[in-house]
Amino acid sequence: MSERDDRVAWALPARGVPADRVLDEIRALRSADRPTHGGRLFAYVYDPAVPGLDDLAMSAHALSAHVNGLDPTAFPSLLAMENVLVGAAASVLGGGPDTSAPDVVGSVTGGGTESLILAVKAARDARPEVSVPRLVIPVSAHAAFAKAAHYLGVALDLVPVSAVTLRPDPADVAAAIGPDTVLVACSAPSYAHGVVDPVPEIAAVAAAAGVRCHVDACFGGWTLPYLRRLGVEGPAFDFSVPGVTSISVDLHKYAYCPKGVSVLLHRDAALRAPQYFAFADWPGYTMINPVISSTRSGGPIAAAYATLRHIGDDGYLALAGQTLDAVRGLAAAVTKVDGLWLMAEPESTVVAFTSTDPALDLFVLADELTARGWHTQPQMAYGDLPASIHLTVTAAVAPRVAEFGPALQAAAATAREHGPVRLPDEVLALLGSLAPEQLSPELVEGLAGGLGLAIGGAEPGAGTGAAPLPDRSALVNTVLNVAPPRMRERLLIEFVGLLQRPTYG
Ligand SMILES: Cc1ncc(COP(=O)(O)O)c(C=O)c1O
Repeated sequence: MSERDDRVAWALPARGVPADRVLDEIRALRSADRPTHGGRLFAYVYDPAVPGLDDLAMSAHALSAHVNGLDPTAFPSLLAMENVLVGAAASVLGGGPDTSAPDVVGSVTGGGTESLILAVKAARDARPEVSVPRLVIPVSAHAAFAKAAHYLGVALDLVPVSAVTLRPDPADVAAAIGPDTVLVACSAPSYAHGVVDPVPEIAAVAAAAGVRCHVDACFGGWTLPYLRRLGVEGPAFDFSVPGVTSISVDLHKYAYCPKGVSVLLHRDAALRAPQYFAFADWPGYTMINPVISSTRSGGPIAAAYATLRHIGDDGYLALAGQTLDAVRGLAAAVTKVDGLWLMAEPESTVVAFTSTDPALDLFVLADELTARGWHTQPQMAYGDLPASIHLTVTAAVAPRVAEFGPALQAAAATAREHGPVRLPDEVLALLGSLAPEQLSPELVEGLAGGLGLAIGGAEPGAGTGAAPLPDRSALVNTVLNVAPPRMRERLLIEFVGLLQRPTYG
């Protein structure tokens, strides 16, 4: 066998590898990942720490993994489970069987981004006469709206948020609405800071202009209703609010389902109709897709069905109570550290804080927390808003809260000792002199080299194909923080492009 054949033989072995060994390989790869369980990772994962739930969800996933959502008449099991998920979401969010509630309908999508793209598509396609449709959102809305606008050829009108309340002024939203606006959207709550927008006022100005209003409750749609039942006050945000025409809620977030399931709800079937795509003008089957994907695995849907029914309403209420305790405990721990300030009093399940002390660099602090086994999410400065650290809080965090306070104190003390990150002058000069479109993979590799970071430099070894990433992120975050948004985007596109290289051997 030639050398080249040997290398290819790793990615696609000439002869099949025994099951045990393949699983060992995956376990070895997984050991480099952040911990998905245990309440020490404050982003990406949602862990209720309910005993046995993972096993149940995985069994349900396996039962339906090969079922195809492409055709609901061929696989009625999937249609039945999807309708249950939509019914559950509708009843949590002000729809439901009650005759006084609106006749809410919906679809199960693969995630929050897909739900938002489809909300924008439905709004765009409901107004075919508008040649350049426009979407009005607060700057605090999730980046997935920008992606939707980009994919769908919709123009984006951004409304500022107050640096104090982190919310948009409904009067500014009203002013941004024009004749070509097809959709207004807001968040309940925003991902970055966890604040709930003034939904009733925003929905009212949208309705007054005859425009649809989408509430992005992807993050909080499954916790806010339970937090309200536990006495946490805040604006109404569901279908009880006149003018709200659609709501998205991710089941793979606070409904604690395995990844790949979100629900997009519409107030009525007529509003949903333009979300669908059908195509008969080819020699194959007539394609009818409610969502973006055509072939869809039944696995995530069955896993979500099992999770919702197993946890149940009382279970979600108890989990929301645990999460609320954790949020309050973490927020108290933050306020005890000199120089750290909450971006907002927590009103959902996010704790976001900033540093007002130049000697306490947030990005160094984040690295110090990582070194102590706590994984947070640094957020860059944006406009008037300072850089911050984001904590997505889930029920699994509750038993850890008492350990977090001392860890944060210790991390802050060490971060002060290190002092803030200082970027080399030549790096600052390079960033200042380059236009975003001039960035090339070579320049990014050079920039990384100048910072002493190796990106994707080491060959992934057989069976350990994890791409090497810098150990300490403060330098990278500082570069991103000083770079304007367009430059940040380009830097990360090139950076991820360097990581995504085929592995042969
Ligand atoms: C408010 C909000 N909307 C949309 C999304 C996008 O969801 P996904 O990552 O599932 O596509 C997120 C994800 O965090 C979110 O928090």
